[in-house]
Amino acid sequence: MKDIKDKIQTLIEKINYHNIQYYVHDNPIISDYEYDVLFKKLQSLESKYPKNISQNSPTQRIGAEPLSKFNQVTHRIPLLSLSNAMNSGELELFNTQMEKGLNQSVEYVGEPKLDGLAVELIYEKGQFIKGSTRGDGYIGEDITENLKTIRAIPLCLNNDYPVPSILEVRGEVFINHTDFENLNKQRIKFGDSIFANPRNCAAGSLRQLDPKITATRPLRIYCYAPGYIENIKFNSQLEFLNVLPKWGFPVNPEIQVGIGMKFLNEYYQHIESMRDNLTYDIDGVVFKINSYQDQTILGTRSRSPRWAIAAKLKAVQTTTVIDNIITNVGRTGAITPVAQLKPINVGGVIVSNATLHNQDEINKKDVRIGDTVIVQRAGDVIPEIVKVVIEKRILNSQPYSIPTTCPSCESLCSKKDDEAILRCFNNYCNAQIEGRIKHCVSKNCMNIDGLGEKIVKLLIDNKLISDLSDIFQLTHDKISNLDRMGDKSASNIIDSINKSKNTTMARFVHGLGIRNVGNHLSKILEQHFNYNFENLIKAQFEELILIDEIGDIVAESIVNYFKDENNLIIINRCFDLGVNFSTPQKQSNILSKQIFVITGTLSELTRTEAKTLIEKNDGIVSSSVSKKTNFLLCGDNPGSKYNKAQKLNIKIINELELQNLING
Ligand code: IVH
Repeated sequence: MKDIKDKIQTLIEKINYHNIQYYVHDNPIISDYEYDVLFKKLQSLESKYPKNISQNSPTQRIGAEPLSKFNQVTHRIPLLSLSNAMNSGELELFNTQMEKGLNQSVEYVGEPKLDGLAVELIYEKGQFIKGSTRGDGYIGEDITENLKTIRAIPLCLNNDYPVPSILEVRGEVFINHTDFENLNKQRIKFGDSIFANPRNCAAGSLRQLDPKITATRPLRIYCYAPGYIENIKFNSQLEFLNVLPKWGFPVNPEIQVGIGMKFLNEYYQHIESMRDNLTYDIDGVVFKINSYQDQTILGTRSRSPRWAIAAKLKAVQTTTVIDNIITNVGRTGAITPVAQLKPINVGGVIVSNATLHNQDEINKKDVRIGDTVIVQRAGDVIPEIVKVVIEKRILNSQPYSIPTTCPSCESLCSKKDDEAILRCFNNYCNAQIEGRIKHCVSKNCMNIDGLGEKIVKLLIDNKLISDLSDIFQLTHDKISNLDRMGDKSASNIIDSINKSKNTTMARFVHGLGIRNVGNHLSKILEQHFNYNFENLIKAQFEELILIDEIGDIVAESIVNYFKDENNLIIINRCFDLGVNFSTPQKQSNILSKQIFVITGTLSELTRTEAKTLIEKNDGIVSSSVSKKTNFLLCGDNPGSKYNKAQKLNIKIINELELQNLING
């Protein structure tokens, strides 16, 4: 038996060693095939002797069962974001501030700014025990099982350097260009929708409830920052970055150190010039003060450190040819023209479509079929046509006009009032129904897992659903006989639908697809109406426009939406079929019913964010200062509330002080 244990242990060590060679040193010394052979050997031994399966075994990376939701994780040290320098002037200003703050010329670390997702990895006694997303910087989601599937993340630390009892490491999860292309090719083959860009793909993959799906995605990681570390002190970023590989973490090989403005400029240009040769997307260059002591001297704002900056890179551009222009219908009936391009590599990603927005845009740029155009892609953004290369225009090309019939239902489209967009006004247009339902079941709305694009289409084509409420009437019997739907997938879908019924008011409001009301405004409405949906339905235009961030256009579309008898019927059916809202979880009770008033322009938070933050921690936000007020949260250019608070001797605090109150 000891023999078996040893054999298993040796295999684990071998596999871990090759993982590190591959991901950390970028220097594989065996082929993928040989790696797979080792892995299969280990799997077969473990299945014969399951008692000998260790938590650290690479086979356990994909062992976990699907979750129903992600748990929340409070970060021991907030995961801050970075402030941006949009041009060289702003970068120079940053350097001046650093030199002033430290009274000397400054040593920086330059790092490519990866366009992926920030995560935190927590190790106790050298074992990976928890991993989370950044979330709002303070609270993230527990995605431990998904992170375990990433082979570049060590499950157990190497001890080439002393291993602290608690170690938190931050890094960016991303996908390589080639891996991304291959994944999309595979998805086309299986009829799945393709990912718009590597970042969306990485984000979607990390937020899968089923780690087995994440395991099929070629995710990678580069680590770049410490979190909480017990008992070991590092003096500088460079020292920390040099230790990371010794523990088994991959670190970006392009990182460099240098001094002063000269280094900032040179490194920026260096990264800009090599950008097209990198195998992954970056959207900027990060500069950090190297010395951790100096970082502490400079300190942080509430959302970003003073000692670091992200110098943004310009979007990548290339030229290609427009083969054709087609139109799509969205959930609001909006007709969007899309240019079909000769597929072209834009900064590492193949682009074959670009949005043309509307007729005015087409006219302004005079975009025509057959034109050679400059296309650009900026990280998250949908590829765009910058301009036509007029010198290359083909003879006899014609200005392009969007056809006035809907490409889905063929009804006549028109423009309303002074809108630039052509719309299909047929509420029963299949493309619109599909768009509305896809929106409603999506992640930020009702979040119905398993109701992907294809299934929604299948359900609509089979006349099983035509609005949101129909989803909650689906039964196992109704859907299990559909094409390509098995017993098991039918059960899974019904399960997710049932789970989604316990939701929040903001998600539901967002899912209704009220024109101009997105994720953010839905949350504002939820807050304003204090989680009372009835009051939102009854709200008058005059009340709505008084809400911060809501103007007449939004107020009007909300009122119009709830005026429509049909919409109310659908909403009520949803409630009858079990949809219900929960009120929010408290983050803490630390502000124990103390009353806050907000004035002036805040720099880090929006007013709504500040209000939510206060309320989540059991504080109360009131709109006017009185003797009962405990704190005035004061931003720039405060109004008369400031004078009143001073008169009444009320404590005046800024955003940082609010964060400090909350962090105890
Ligand atoms: S350091 C305190 N280093 O950029 C500094 N961030 O805008 C916080 N990012 O949330 C992060 N590459 O997702 C750091 N080399 C790098 C980075 C990096 C990409 C991302 C990260 C962060 C965001 C901030």
